[in-house]
Amino acid sequence: MKDFALDRLVPAHVRAFEAYVPSPPDDVLCRRFGVPQLHRLNNNENPLGPPEAARAMMAAWKPEHAALYPQGDGWHLRRALGRQFDIDPEQLILGNGANEVIAFVIKAFCEPGDNIVTADRTFAVYEWLASFSGVEPKLVPLRDYAFDAAAMLEAIDDRTRVVFVCNPNNPTGTWWTHDELDAFMDAVDGRAIVVADEAYAEFAEDPAFPDSFALMQRHPNLIVFRTFSKMWGLAGLRIGWMAASPDVAATVKKTSISYSVNLLAMEAARAAVWDEAHVAATRAHMREARAGVAELAARLGLTMIGDVGNFCMLRLPVSDTVAHRRLMGRGVMARAMTSFRYPGWLRVSLGPAAAMAAFATALEEVLAEG
Ligand SMILES: Cc1ncc(COP(=O)(O)O)c(C=O)c1O
Repeated sequence: MKDFALDRLVPAHVRAFEAYVPSPPDDVLCRRFGVPQLHRLNNNENPLGPPEAARAMMAAWKPEHAALYPQGDGWHLRRALGRQFDIDPEQLILGNGANEVIAFVIKAFCEPGDNIVTADRTFAVYEWLASFSGVEPKLVPLRDYAFDAAAMLEAIDDRTRVVFVCNPNNPTGTWWTHDELDAFMDAVDGRAIVVADEAYAEFAEDPAFPDSFALMQRHPNLIVFRTFSKMWGLAGLRIGWMAASPDVAATVKKTSISYSVNLLAMEAARAAVWDEAHVAATRAHMREARAGVAELAARLGLTMIGDVGNFCMLRLPVSDTVAHRRLMGRGVMARAMTSFRYPGWLRVSLGPAAAMAAFATALEEVLAEG
């Protein structure tokens, strides 16, 4: 093979970036850990799966349609979402998961040398995408596990283009109320785009949770993210979306990738919106599963945080990476949080009852080993 000077072609910020390595598939992990079955509680999926109408739509889907390109920008789905939330469909942009929408936004507003502001212990993709785009991630420490509005405002400077607020926060489950987000937007005063990442919004039952689509009317620099991966049980199809004021949406549209959302995802998402019974059943499941983890935490003397979303965190008296490995050996996969700046913590998704029971038994055994 010929040599070539690869480094010369790679920007310094890409060279410096360490690629994220996703976990291997279940069959590989089962072999590696010598277990017949793996309960995955590491990805914050919905154990109830997709709503009935989306299931029926997928069951009836004609395989021949896989040969066809989808409509390029989600025409029908954007109209369905527009009707649901009373927003002009031109203000909505779909992506291959909300992850792709993060990329659209950073590409639209940032150039190398600019910065984004977010928290130090939140969903890591904002930081990663900024870093490998040559954009500095300014990471503001959480206060009491929550986004610290005053410190975030202080971090904004004249190179700040986007502020990411994960609301509710993954992994701590803390959230800003409508009034807190409104006050933050007033204080930002148009100096930067503010993204409210509401991947877990549908799990929030408190009426004080923001009506961010209404706030967009007052604050044209607010972008709202949603996803079909969490409440709607379509994580495997990869579909998310954003809403913004008309001019902001028109700008992000320039850097969005047409045709990146597949046909099946768009049709399943359209069928899923808006199934109230599914939302109620999912919320009920989460309440019960969370109560189970709280009981376990109390029995084992562990601190537990997170009361919104489909996950919670537990502080362990032992190394989280060691505990993770030992749990894997018992066929249970939670998220070891050291690499997300939470040494000693595990994040556990609120999964099916059988998986939660397996987790409880396995964790008790692991901690008994010391
Ligand atoms: C806060 C947050 N935002 C965005 C995403 C990405 O979601 P998607 O599956 O739509 O890419 C996740 C996924 O875990 C998340 O936790």
